[in-house]
Amino acid sequence: MRIVSGIQPTGNLHLGNYLGAIKNWVKMQDDIAAEGGQSLYFLADLHAISMPHDPRTLSANTREMTAALVACGIDPDRSILFNQTQVPQHAELQWLLNGTARMGWLNRMTQFKDKSGKNREGASVALFTYPVLQAADVLLYQATHVPVGEDQKQHLELARDIAQKFNNDFASEDAPVFTLPDPIIPPEAARIMSLRDGSAKMSKSDPSDMARINLTDDADTIMKKVKKAKSDAEPLPSEKAGLEGRAEANNLVGIYSAMTGQSVEQILADFGGEGFGKFKPALGEVLVEKLAPINERFNELRKDYSALDAILAKGAEKARTLALPTLHAAYDALGL
Ligand code: ADP
Ligand code: NA
Repeated sequence: MRIVSGIQPTGNLHLGNYLGAIKNWVKMQDDIAAEGGQSLYFLADLHAISMPHDPRTLSANTREMTAALVACGIDPDRSILFNQTQVPQHAELQWLLNGTARMGWLNRMTQFKDKSGKNREGASVALFTYPVLQAADVLLYQATHVPVGEDQKQHLELARDIAQKFNNDFASEDAPVFTLPDPIIPPEAARIMSLRDGSAKMSKSDPSDMARINLTDDADTIMKKVKKAKSDAEPLPSEKAGLEGRAEANNLVGIYSAMTGQSVEQILADFGGEGFGKFKPALGEVLVEKLAPINERFNELRKDYSALDAILAKGAEKARTLALPTLHAAYDALGL
């Protein structure tokens, strides 16, 4: 089993990024390693240029994301952790696959329609062909499985179609160039809401720093933010149904659940009938206990770009070694 997954590099990482994305990667890494498989994780910086972006922050964000991944438990000795740009075989293979992908297939991609909106003529060509780069990202490594959320299912189907057509057109049946990857549905990710407004997503773009818990926040800051978090005057219910229509209460209990692994039912069995004066300090302690080691490691790593670059360079070298035989086979098959 070999899985490949990419994440867009972003800075100002917060609890939502941890619980909604990074934590799942760590779990997958551990599950795959336990089965003797291999996981490859990359920072999808080539994808970032398909939308308007700020060149001044992209490389810093790549390092921030790397630091966060390692601090949260991605082990560069067990996973291959690298930066897409440093493995030029991704871009090379994309060009080769552009010969196989059909305009009609890409025209059907709903994400392009969503992201380009009303301004299709003004969208970048990269936004249109980015599913072909995604196909290259996984086919390059003979991935057997790719974790995909609902919004990426169509792109994985496309990768399979491209692989199949390429194998059909250019390879003999007993020696296919590409493996057709199967989707794996990642464990359901928590969706974390703002601490100031239970109907808005916790986000780095929220102007209020009190609305989110940053991975750089120290224990005092975390405690203060949790205590000031918006809640309501009712005590916690003793059953889950009682959280309906109480967005803030629901979010705070959800965070407790995601951090401890306890079910919401279990938490309400313990805290039902108690007010937030009691629940918030308990939640703050849980957050501090789990985030303190991450926070310490994260702040250490993000100060040392050369150490992060060394991690990425080593990962890129391993990735290139895995990628080259497939890339050469693709060139050969095409008569190049
Ligand atoms: P932001 O919303 O802060 O700009 P990004 O869009 O850069 O975050 O998201 C990076 C990753 O973190 C994505 O996988 C996204 O799904 C996840 N993520 C971001 N915010 C949250 C949240 N509030 N709850 C759960 N997951 C989140
Ligand atoms: Na965002």
